[in-house]
Formats: sequence, structure tokens, C-alpha cells
Amino acid sequence: MIRFSEVSKFYGALPALRGVSGEVGAGEVTVVCGPSGSGKSTLIRTVNRLEPINSGQILIGGRDIHERGWSVNALRSGVGFVFQSFGLFQHLNALDNVTLALRHVRGLPRKEAEALGLAQLERLGLAERARQMPSALSGGQQQRVAIARALVMKPAVLLLDEPTSALDPEMVGEVLRAIEALAADGLTMMCVTHEMGFAQRVADRIWFMERGELKADATTEQFFKGEAGARAREFLKQI
Ligand SMILES: Nc1ncnc2c1ncn2[C@@H]1O[C@H](COP(=O)(O)OP(=O)(O)OP(=O)(O)O)[C@@H](O)[C@H]1O
Ligand SMILES: [Mg+2]
Repeated sequence: MIRFSEVSKFYGALPALRGVSGEVGAGEVTVVCGPSGSGKSTLIRTVNRLEPINSGQILIGGRDIHERGWSVNALRSGVGFVFQSFGLFQHLNALDNVTLALRHVRGLPRKEAEALGLAQLERLGLAERARQMPSALSGGQQQRVAIARALVMKPAVLLLDEPTSALDPEMVGEVLRAIEALAADGLTMMCVTHEMGFAQRVADRIWFMERGELKADATTEQFFKGEAGARAREFLKQI
């Protein structure tokens, strides 16, 4: 579903990604881990062109994401993104956040968009919260609204960048459970997280990054058995 070939990216002179190659299969969950500054966020942000790359190629479903004629709006409606900080529009209620792109990017009439939006909110356990403003929702609820907003576009791929690290500890579980349910439904996901228990339950593969390199690409079983190389083993021990 996603193929990175020799992807490199610099911030000025600083190499943030160095020749990353790897594949995420359809219906697979890949957890991306590694120390701070290793390029995890940069890597997943390249997939929907939030970050331009300097060399290499990224294919989604066999199509180059930089292909002429593939607009950034079209690309992003096929690739959902969930941020650490939720990124909800504070002046819109939950349902309006969820339906915004359906109405303004896809051009659906309000009624149709709201039916789809409500169904997604219900899937995330938020049917009763549809008309509430983000400020009236807990962090865990806001993050689930953000997930519903991504899913309503029926993305082929969902990218999540530390979706629980801004949450109070008591809310981490509800968001992880929601993500686990999506994995069980067969959604293709790349998730940056330090929640290694979650990774062990949900991931098909674990990618370990260090200094912009994909240092290990292992099955979850190999990774947790310590068979993904010395650096990955050390990292696992530390966290
Ligand atoms: N907008 C930017 N401008 C300049 N340098 C950046 C920018 N964003 C990231 N970097 C640098 O690129 C490198 C990779 O950053 P990135 O955010 O991808 O790491 P990360 O693995 O996600 O780290 P963390 O675990 O702290 O979120 C780091 O050295 C970082 O300082
Ligand atoms: Mg990051």
C-alpha cells in the first residue's frame, strides 16, 4: 500500500531522513519507534506531502505521491492524518469538524455529510457528543473526534503521530482501544508511538528509526524477541 524507496530529506544541511526504504502492506499496521529526533514524524509526514522530500520516491497503491495531476487535496483525502495535538477547529462542534472536508473538499450536501459524520462519531463512541464544542470535550474525546474526522474520508491509509502522548494517562487507554478496533477492521496504518504494549498487541511490523535511518524493519514478534538488531534491543530495554 505504501512504498518508500531511498527517501531522503534535509532541513537545511541537517539530514532528517537518510535513504529510507520500506513497505507497508495493505491492511497492515506498522508502528514507528525510535529516539527523539530520529525522523519518525518527518517520515510519516512525507506520506501525505506535509513535508517535501529531497530525493527518492513514495508510492501509495502503486502511484507516486508526487505524480502530476494528483492534487494535494485529493492525496490528503485518501491519506488520513491524526496529530498529537488533535488539531480540531475550536470554533466548530464535533460534527462540523468531522464533516468539514466532506462538504468543502468533496462537495457533499450538508445532510449527506452529517449522516456520514454521525456514523463515524458513533463508531468512535461519540454519538452523544456530536453537537459539543471541542472545549467541552476531554482530550481523549477530542482525539477520537480527530480520528473520526480522518476516517470519514474513507482513507486508504491512516497515519498517526503519537496520538496519545498529549493525553492525561487515564485517557490513553480509550484512544488506544479505538485505534485497535480500526486495526481489527483491516485499516492500513502507520503509527508513531512509544506505547510498546499497544505496539505488541496491534502492530504487524515495527520500524525502528535512528538519526534519520530506518535501522530495523522487523515483524512484531522478531522485534520483541530482540531479533531486530543491537540498537533496537537497547532502545526496547530503555523504554
Ligand atoms: N521544521 C523543521 N526545521 C528544521 N529541523 C527540523 C524540523 N522538523 C524537524 N527537524 C529536525 O529533524 C530531525 C527529525 O525530527 P522529527 O520531528 O522527525 O523527529 P521525531 O523522531 O519525530 O522526534 P520526536 O520523538 O521528538 O517527536 C530532528 O533533528 C529535528 O530537530
Ligand atoms: Mg515526532
